Amino acid sequence: MNLKALEKYKDYFKGKTYNVTTFGCQMNEHDSERISYLLEDLGYKHTDIREEADFILFNTCLVRENAELKLVGQISSLKKIKQAHPEKIIAVSGCMMQTSTAREMIEKNHKEVDIIFGTKNINSLQNLIFKYLETGERVVDVSTDLVKDDFVKYNSKNNFQAYVNIMRGCDNFCSYCIVPQARGREESRRPSNIIEEVEYLVANGYKEITLLGQNVNSYGNKSDFNVTFPQLLDKIASIDGLERLRFTTSHPKDLSKDLIKVMKNHDNICKYFHLPLQSGSDKVLKDMNRRYTQKDYIEKVKMLREEIPEIAISTDIIVGFPTETEEDFLETLNVCRKVGFDYAFTFIYSPRPKTKAYKLATIDKDIVQDRFQRLLDELYPTFYEKNKAYIGTRHKVLLESVSKNDPDVLTGRTDTNKLVHVKASKSLVGKIVEVDIKENTSFTITGDLVKIY
Ligand code: 5AD
Ligand code: SF4
Repeated sequence: MNLKALEKYKDYFKGKTYNVTTFGCQMNEHDSERISYLLEDLGYKHTDIREEADFILFNTCLVRENAELKLVGQISSLKKIKQAHPEKIIAVSGCMMQTSTAREMIEKNHKEVDIIFGTKNINSLQNLIFKYLETGERVVDVSTDLVKDDFVKYNSKNNFQAYVNIMRGCDNFCSYCIVPQARGREESRRPSNIIEEVEYLVANGYKEITLLGQNVNSYGNKSDFNVTFPQLLDKIASIDGLERLRFTTSHPKDLSKDLIKVMKNHDNICKYFHLPLQSGSDKVLKDMNRRYTQKDYIEKVKMLREEIPEIAISTDIIVGFPTETEEDFLETLNVCRKVGFDYAFTFIYSPRPKTKAYKLATIDKDIVQDRFQRLLDELYPTFYEKNKAYIGTRHKVLLESVSKNDPDVLTGRTDTNKLVHVKASKSLVGKIVEVDIKENTSFTITGDLVKIY
């Protein structure tokens, strides 16, 4: 940080507030946590009311077009506020700012935006703010800052769960996906650095750590250190006092026996696996450049279930990829039926400029909508059955927050990532408890509190 500038502006930040809106994935959520740490370090205090904040930031996503449209709508709504209060600072960051088309669109059409930065220079944010205060001119900087392999400070969402980045970028180039362009080539963080961060968190009372990467299974592949993801996971799970360890996301092509063995060997590695399928058709998978077949996928699931029978499996599915025919779509339904997913994130294909699939003609909207509905009709009853199987069983649940609908109910998660509702006192948020499961829907399970740890 520029200490001279800090001295000059230290009174400026007194009593000032900030608000951050995050679009997209957990990686972006974590970036927002880093951003909010840096803002609070300057003296800003958080406010929930965006329009009242002195520093308003949008951390953007461009994986699908609707995230982009939503952002444009929300920034536009700030135009009037900026006109009435020109002293407020409006900033835009994140994946969208990493592509010149999206960045130039914001620069050209949104004069109300004062600071633009990217995913690789979050650590420079304080200096970008000083630069803006110094010049009063818009600051645009999406360069890569020098601190690459950092033990970053951040404000985690609470004091018992934290995300830890193990790598950034992606080298897979799935033909529909903009992430490799937006977040760049894959780079793994040094194991010693990651372990130091997790040890610090555990020593400070954190119970659950989620390791983040676009494709965690290729961790270390291009690095000079000789540590694979299963080896890293094994080391982290062995840290004394760590209660729960999660990771996301895994690419099916790289899911190895070694990883499953490590998961099985450690009670604190959550028995939950997110394994994006995308499509069940071999032809579409090939066109998507996914580098596995339906058979490979089903075999990996079988391997997981053979070794860890209680494991819950979720997935991502895209409907309406340009080359998807009715027969291809039926293959997707077929895999869903064969696998029986506990949960799925379902998406309608969204053409993204600069991806390989962008040039392909898209499918009629009504056909895609119809397939999408049929996919949900296939998935939801399975979610229901999977949750129903929990009735009559007892599970450890990490209580995360008070339910939005009922102040007497807390929500939490089993290690298999099932969303649990339980009547309990607010003071138990952050605690691990045992719950007897009594009821279920397709999306939640409900039970009685029986034990507090
Ligand atoms: N259109 C629709 N869904 C997409 N995803 C990524 N790119 C696209 C796109 N262009 C989905 C994939 C991925 C998840 C994070 O987002 O399913 O796994
Ligand atoms: Fe995108 Fe594929 Fe990389 Fe996931 S693995 S971020 S879908 S390119």
